[in-house]
Amino acid sequence: MYFFRSDLIDKKPVSVNVPHKKIMLCLNESSLNPFEILKKQIISKLENVPFNRYYNEITAELYQKLADYAGVSEENLAFGNGADEMLYYIFNSVRDNNESFAVSLAPSYFDYKSYSRAVGLGIKFYDLDKNYDFNVEEFSKFADDKNCKLVIICNPNNPTGNLFGDDKIIRTIENNYDRLVLLDETYFEFSKKTFSDYINRFPNLIIVRSFSKAFAAAGLRHLSLLIQAITVVMLDNKNIFLKQIEKTIMLREKLFKSLSLLPKIEIRNTATNFLPFSFGEKTIELFDFLSRLLSRHEIAIRRIDTHPLLKNFVRVSIGNEQENNIFLEKVSEFISVK
Ligand SMILES: Cc1ncc(COP(=O)(O)O)c(C=O)c1O
Repeated sequence: MYFFRSDLIDKKPVSVNVPHKKIMLCLNESSLNPFEILKKQIISKLENVPFNRYYNEITAELYQKLADYAGVSEENLAFGNGADEMLYYIFNSVRDNNESFAVSLAPSYFDYKSYSRAVGLGIKFYDLDKNYDFNVEEFSKFADDKNCKLVIICNPNNPTGNLFGDDKIIRTIENNYDRLVLLDETYFEFSKKTFSDYINRFPNLIIVRSFSKAFAAAGLRHLSLLIQAITVVMLDNKNIFLKQIEKTIMLREKLFKSLSLLPKIEIRNTATNFLPFSFGEKTIELFDFLSRLLSRHEIAIRRIDTHPLLKNFVRVSIGNEQENNIFLEKVSEFISVK
């Protein structure tokens, strides 16, 4: 007897092989721990939150501060437990019947596939070209089907790192006026590019953002009053995070420069807090070398070679200065003997 949806019968559990190393440069996390720097304010905020109640005015405060931060009105906002949960809800809400599907560019964020499968929404991928770019008319034709309910664009794109041209995004939204277009702006703070000004102009546009990267809150993805209160404190102190974003961008440029001075390393332009790079046929050997270093120096980066366009590519998140230096030192060490 099978108790679940019949299309799930043959589905294997999605397994993401995330290594746990001392130096974590594989999940595009922040190197800042917000609790360390905002401990006093968070605790004082929590003192006024009644955890015995379902609702509290902290929710209204969070709406108002989020709207202010994102430059949109409160009616335009919905928040959930991380961008992932919002993706899940959106996928669930566009699914009409067994034929419904979404389209996405490829390579792109791994979990579009897992969440669409989880809710029984099909997904089709349109391959980017070798510059990690796409032709708008062809992509729109690809989506032109009555069962296509959703077009997903990750901008800047994970794991390739690049932004797509504004005109391409706008024309894709215009061409797909009869279906939802989801722009995933999880890395917005590092690219400084957003289409939030367009949400009232295009009724089919929905934008997803995250607090996991620029606001360093990857580990806080449960939206109880506790988290709402902490988020309010973080928004009240957004200057700390804005400074950290600038620092990360500066460290990204520095790492980009230093890596590009190394022989045989190919790096891609990026508008995020990570860098995709390749060391040709020896990339996976380099990946293994970094993860097998002695524990003090062990480094987790991410393999992103699931698509032919990313053959022999890995992705390194921008860590703090010391982590980046150790990473660079170890990559140089590996390269010097190859
Ligand atoms: C493109 C993209 N979208 C969504 C997410 C998930 O974000 P969150 O941590 O807010 O669930 C990630 C996380 O890495 C991502 O890279």
